[in-house]
Amino acid sequence: MPSDARKQVVADSAYALDELTLKLSMARGLDEVMEVVRRLARPLVRADGVTFVLRDNGMCHYADEDAISPLWKGQRFPMESCISGWAMLHGQTVVIEDIYADARIPHAAYRPTFVKSLAMVPVRQEDPIGAIGAYWAHRHVPSEGDLYALQRIANSAAVAMTNVALFQSLIAAKEEAERAKDAIILALASLAETRDYDTGDHIRRTQQYVRVLAEACLARGHGEDELAGTIELLIKSAPLHDIGKVGIPDSILLKAGPLDEAEFTVMKTHAELGRRAIAGAEEHLGTSSPLLRLAQEIAHTHHERWDGAGYPCGLKGADIPLSGRIMAVADVYDALVSKRRYKPALPHLEAVAIIAAERGHHFDPVLVDVFLEVARDFETIHRYFADG
Ligand code: C2E
Ligand code: SIN
Ligand code: SIN
Ligand code: SIN
Ligand code: FE
Repeated sequence: MPSDARKQVVADSAYALDELTLKLSMARGLDEVMEVVRRLARPLVRADGVTFVLRDNGMCHYADEDAISPLWKGQRFPMESCISGWAMLHGQTVVIEDIYADARIPHAAYRPTFVKSLAMVPVRQEDPIGAIGAYWAHRHVPSEGDLYALQRIANSAAVAMTNVALFQSLIAAKEEAERAKDAIILALASLAETRDYDTGDHIRRTQQYVRVLAEACLARGHGEDELAGTIELLIKSAPLHDIGKVGIPDSILLKAGPLDEAEFTVMKTHAELGRRAIAGAEEHLGTSSPLLRLAQEIAHTHHERWDGAGYPCGLKGADIPLSGRIMAVADVYDALVSKRRYKPALPHLEAVAIIAAERGHHFDPVLVDVFLEVARDFETIHRYFADG
């Protein structure tokens, strides 16, 4: 393009082009890309219509348009029989002053329209993925400045469409990884569970108790620092709290009667075993995972006691992470109201009384107060996900 023509473009429409290019660069979806082109391209080249054509399995899909009267929006034409197809197949800009004098044009498709002249630019020069058309109702030869503008729009649209595709595959990959992670956590947790309990309901109940307790805490202004924004993580990681029981021998884990001191000493290692197993998983991951971090914390601290008499570390009071303090209440409630090999199920009210009596001893007093307010929800959850 001669330098005067470029200067003219710079003078006339540099601002509008820059705006359009900027908007395209921020588009997060194909619809947005087409909308920007539809709204801003036509005035820029003083056309009576513009179309946005997508290459779609060997067809030209007239996906979007802005024109003084309808063109072909929504229609598909074979690549070989339309001018957008010609532009894409040849990777070249086409300018046609008199469409009825050009054999590449399917005249029948143009007769119902206002179009007399057109310019069509491919989107992406190498292996075009679309085309942008500009149409005039009176015979018109677009200036070099207008063609330059159209080609810049097409180039920006090509970059934007590539970005959109990358962005969307990134999101899809992230969602896929998220689903895989959830599934693996549940699989691991149920593995630990099937040796110990009869059903998978303990996992689901525990998640619900944790949700109820954590949300009730937040609603009452407790633990905002530790809970705000992490309740979903807490719920997802809760099922892993007893994963360390996988390392406890059957003779102890499945014993029908009470454990002797030596056996209980072994049993208590499940907190540290669990922490280590999840830490190992995080190490393999090679990056810090908030979910696995929290799961370690819960596995490690769910048997600590507020009065410092718990295990494995004998942590006391607020030195115990809130996640572990919440898990302790949820875990013990479920153990009390469920039948275990070593104990019968207790009625709800007896379980509530035991937890209330442990206020400030086993459990965080504030958490016991909150628990007492929402205890009916615990009962509902236990009944809803009944054993076996
Ligand atoms: P679990 O059965 O899931 O119990 C979790 C926690 O609930 C227990 O932690 C304890 O704090 C509480 N809990 C369970 N049953 C009762 C109860 O009847 N009364 C009261 N006041 N609290 C209860 P703990 O004691 O640290 O036990 C950890 C795990 O060790 C238990 O998980 C269970 O798998 C095993 N375990 C504990 N005691 C026995 C036992 O006497 N026999 C057998 N076979 N296993 C036991
Ligand atoms: C068609 O009529 O095939 C579509 C319009 C065009 O060729 O640009
Ligand atoms: C061009 O810049 O030559 C046309 C537009 C494109 O193919 O991207
Ligand atoms: C369960 O907790 O899901 C089953 C009850 C049990 O056997 O402990
Ligand atoms: Fe435990």
